[in-house]
Amino acid sequence: MDFFANADHTINTISKGAFLTTKHADKTNTMTIGWGSIGYIWKMPIFMVMVRPSRFTHQLLESNNEFTVSIPSPALSSALGICGTKSGKDLDKIAAAGLTLQNGRQVSVPVIGNCLQHYECRVVFKQDMTDKELNSQIKTAFYSAGDYHTLYFAEIVTTYPGQ
Ligand SMILES: Cc1cc2nc3c(=O)[nH]c(=O)nc-3n(C[C@H](O)[C@H](O)[C@H](O)COP(=O)(O)O)c2cc1C
Repeated sequence: MDFFANADHTINTISKGAFLTTKHADKTNTMTIGWGSIGYIWKMPIFMVMVRPSRFTHQLLESNNEFTVSIPSPALSSALGICGTKSGKDLDKIAAAGLTLQNGRQVSVPVIGNCLQHYECRVVFKQDMTDKELNSQIKTAFYSAGDYHTLYFAEIVTTYPGQ
């Protein structure tokens, strides 16, 4: 499998918004991400996502170390708006945004229907950010509230185009 076949399109699209989907027990949630990276580390293809502890997604990821990333088509821009501003703590965002789910092929978490590319991922390392060694301009621009991200490094176990 070529894990990096559509990586350029994926990274370009993430900067405008993509779906990070998580699940624990019978609760499935998705949130919009605007940052992430794809690379090759520890002899594996790795997807790294950044999630602030205030997100419901963070709570679900701490309970189940699998997630999926779905790269949307332009038609899903209003759903990205809902999933990037509302919390799954308060709302079933899948229903509210009119999204559909498809079972994951190799992980316990579903992918979002009508997307262009899916990544199924399993966390192999995570790290809470601190301000130690952090560039001061980044600190001022993104962390004035002290809400530092947790970085989740996950093996890409499979990736495939949406249907
Ligand atoms: C374009 C865009 C990109 C975002 N990227 C991130 C991100 O990379 N990490 C993060 O923690 N929050 C990010 N957010 C904010 C979350 O999507 C937002 O707080 C969401 O309501 C969290 O949902 P949850 O509580 O259901 O997890 C982004 C929001 C938007 C609109």
